[in-house]
Amino acid sequence: MAIRNHGAWWQTSIFYQVYPRSFYDSNNDGVGDLQGIRQKLDYLQWLGIDAIWLSPICKSPMADFGYDVSDYTCVDPIFGTMEDFDALLEDIHQRGMKLVLDFVPNHTSSEHPWFQESRSSRTNAKSDWYIWRDPTPEGKRPNNWESFIGDSAWDYDEQRGQYYLHIFYDKQPDLNWRNPEVRAALYDVMRYWLDRGVDGLRIDAIWMLLKDPQLHDDPPNPAWQEGGFPGDQQLRSHMEDQPGIHDIAREMRAVADAYQDRVLIGEIHLPLDRFIRYYGGAALDEIHLPFNFALITAQWKAPEVRQIVDQYEAALPRGAWPDWALGCHDYVRVRNRIGREQERVAHMLLLTLRGTPICYYGDEIEMCDGEVPPQKVRDPEAIAAPRFDRGAYRTPMQWNSEPNAGFSRQTPWLAAVKDSDGDDVAAQCDHPASHLTMIRRLIQIRSNHPALRSGTYQAVDTSCTDVFAYLRETDEQRVLVVLNFVGTQQHLDLSQVSQYARVLCSTTMQRDGEIALNQVALEPNEGLMLLV
Ligand code: GLC
Repeated sequence: MAIRNHGAWWQTSIFYQVYPRSFYDSNNDGVGDLQGIRQKLDYLQWLGIDAIWLSPICKSPMADFGYDVSDYTCVDPIFGTMEDFDALLEDIHQRGMKLVLDFVPNHTSSEHPWFQESRSSRTNAKSDWYIWRDPTPEGKRPNNWESFIGDSAWDYDEQRGQYYLHIFYDKQPDLNWRNPEVRAALYDVMRYWLDRGVDGLRIDAIWMLLKDPQLHDDPPNPAWQEGGFPGDQQLRSHMEDQPGIHDIAREMRAVADAYQDRVLIGEIHLPLDRFIRYYGGAALDEIHLPFNFALITAQWKAPEVRQIVDQYEAALPRGAWPDWALGCHDYVRVRNRIGREQERVAHMLLLTLRGTPICYYGDEIEMCDGEVPPQKVRDPEAIAAPRFDRGAYRTPMQWNSEPNAGFSRQTPWLAAVKDSDGDDVAAQCDHPASHLTMIRRLIQIRSNHPALRSGTYQAVDTSCTDVFAYLRETDEQRVLVVLNFVGTQQHLDLSQVSQYARVLCSTTMQRDGEIALNQVALEPNEGLMLLV
């Protein structure tokens, strides 16, 4: 039985993001569903996961796979029913686990009844629920803003004779968060799910909710290069992180705080100094866990990664809790980004840093990116630029060696990708040195060591530039983590920390016993966790 320390559940939990379309298909229609997730809870519990973050499950035409909601209080039939949802939540809670739902407040689907009403005239009750503007006197778009797919963020609506704003895709009109009725309606949505018993919400695109009311043009992004992501050609200076956004974050927090023990995770893509403000400064009254993309976008080199960790730790307001992730549904998988050789080191880092680790489904079995054939391209980002199809990192979970990797007995919505036989749960769960076995071991060690769960973090200087070493420490316990970021052996003297240490885990899964710290030999791409 794992020893749990004090601290809120979301500080001591290991989170795991499930992309519901791709986890397990219980009714064999080719798409994953809620019953499927329910059937795989044993696996998640066996792995040591404490909390699940579920990508959107609400009713949606699926133009952006659920990030385009057409009914916030209804489960999309492709995933199941509200009864299925309640049963899933109950099972999760019975196991002592938690459930966090994705909440998409920046925009709705263009098929949402709110938008249908809003577009119907300039005088209807919801006419100001979205961001409508007249064409300029020259008949042009209201300003130069570009959407995340690189086209104009304005689309003309014939019916209303005005442009509406969509900073994502044209089927995702932006709600007008300056309208108090909109705020109240979205806070009611939060309450709906919190009343139902969910343990928290991951707030999609929270840093984008307010836009410059004067609609100033945005400048071009000087760092953008030909062939880059089309949605990055402009700086979003007037579309993101606008004055007033922290009031909204505080209001959302107040909604959550009216319940016991709930968590808010927020999607925020901003430089560190502005990112950190979403904790709420000294009052810590905004987002519990602003989702930290730093390791996902990092250059995978020991000094860079150390700098990321040091700077984040130094910037945190007092009492704020860090979080770390190696992947999510919007980014190339960790294995493809940094290479298979470094995947174990990356996971040892994720599971030994101070702060909540958020794992992405399938990374524990070394899933790699797939290829989406042209006839299956549906991701709006890929329609604009096929090279950026996010389907590649959302392929079916690989359960076993059966057809479709055991995900479904039907042809799945996207093909399962296995580039080697061992990349599935069945093959790896009994193997003593598999990636999955290592992840499970790291999770167990984290649960059993207060120093890892809640101890301080302190980087340790070494003479090797390709090694990142740090101490995690409580009054009673010290754990030293030493990570070799390259494929060559490293020899280190770490006797400044202690004379001897006991090996808790090596990424090779082949070391134990005591080692002398004055002459540590790290294998190529090896990570070592030591009790000192
Ligand atoms: C967020 C989601 C992404 C989605 C976008 C629009 O960035 O993570 O998947 O496409 O919001 O909702």
